[in-house]
Amino acid sequence: MKKIVVTASLPGEAVDKLKEKFKVRIFNQKKTLSEDELIKLLKSADGAITLLSDPLTKNVLEKTKLKIISNYAVGYNNIDIAFASERGIIVTNTPDALTDATADLTLALILSVARRIVESDNFTRKGKFKGWLPQLMLGVDLKGKTLGIIGMGRIGKAVARRAIPFGMKVVYYQRKPLIQSEEDALKASFVELDQLLKVSDIVSIHCPFTKETNKLLSREKIFSMKKGAILINTSRGKVIDEDALCDALENHLFGAGLDVYENEPQINRRLLKMRNVVLLPHIGSAGRETREEMAEMAISNIISFFEGKIPPNIIPEQKEIIKSFKIK
Ligand code: DGY
Repeated sequence: MKKIVVTASLPGEAVDKLKEKFKVRIFNQKKTLSEDELIKLLKSADGAITLLSDPLTKNVLEKTKLKIISNYAVGYNNIDIAFASERGIIVTNTPDALTDATADLTLALILSVARRIVESDNFTRKGKFKGWLPQLMLGVDLKGKTLGIIGMGRIGKAVARRAIPFGMKVVYYQRKPLIQSEEDALKASFVELDQLLKVSDIVSIHCPFTKETNKLLSREKIFSMKKGAILINTSRGKVIDEDALCDALENHLFGAGLDVYENEPQINRRLLKMRNVVLLPHIGSAGRETREEMAEMAISNIISFFEGKIPPNIIPEQKEIIKSFKIK
């Protein structure tokens, strides 16, 4: 019987389906695992369901006999894909399931920062609300503002669709512009990154983390944003130069809403002290139904693979090379 390791307990009942077909070990992960802990856990496994925070580096992968990694996330920058592909290890993810939940959370962050929701809540709880005042907690109106979306994939598009009813204008940047009919349907226009940063009142990041997007928002780019703009990140922390962001939050930006961090789960101490940032613990996809659907997907990827089929959510980088992989 094949051995499957699930590196953390997942919501819902889907895991029961795994138990019917495989020898399953569910590890009760409470904090991010180190490479050594992961090696120990995965050493004898044929397949694994892993988290976006599990470091599946070359060092880890070469000490396992894994045939498939089913990452419980849409992002898979925690895995050395080049090395996995070289070793014939299939990698799958959970796209689509979390698009709406992540877009919802992005809007929640935009509203929280623009209208100073967390700050106002703290103010009220501390007994500082002494009466209605015309200038109390003035924030940023969304109507008429420009939202700049970096990365117009599934989540970026879902954010654009949500922004239009608020009266925002949407511009976006990614390597390849969308086709005209898609732009028209989303009411979004393509602009180059420098232009997006110059014209946007709110910038929201939705690109994956890759070599090319590492610190895409460098110090220079952050300071080229409009004075008084808002920066939102629900993708990956390393896309932003976090130290530069902290400097910009002191005198250049209105605020920031972050669900992800450069050295997750560590949070830059300066951010913790700032009242104009909203900090979340990477909960973009944390809706119950969403997380249950992600579990179903991650499990069906494993089952299909060991049934000798191409898993439904093989990552794009492996779509071609899978034809030469030996399944089973
Ligand atoms: C993912 O799945 O990659 C997201 O970051 C989860 O919130």
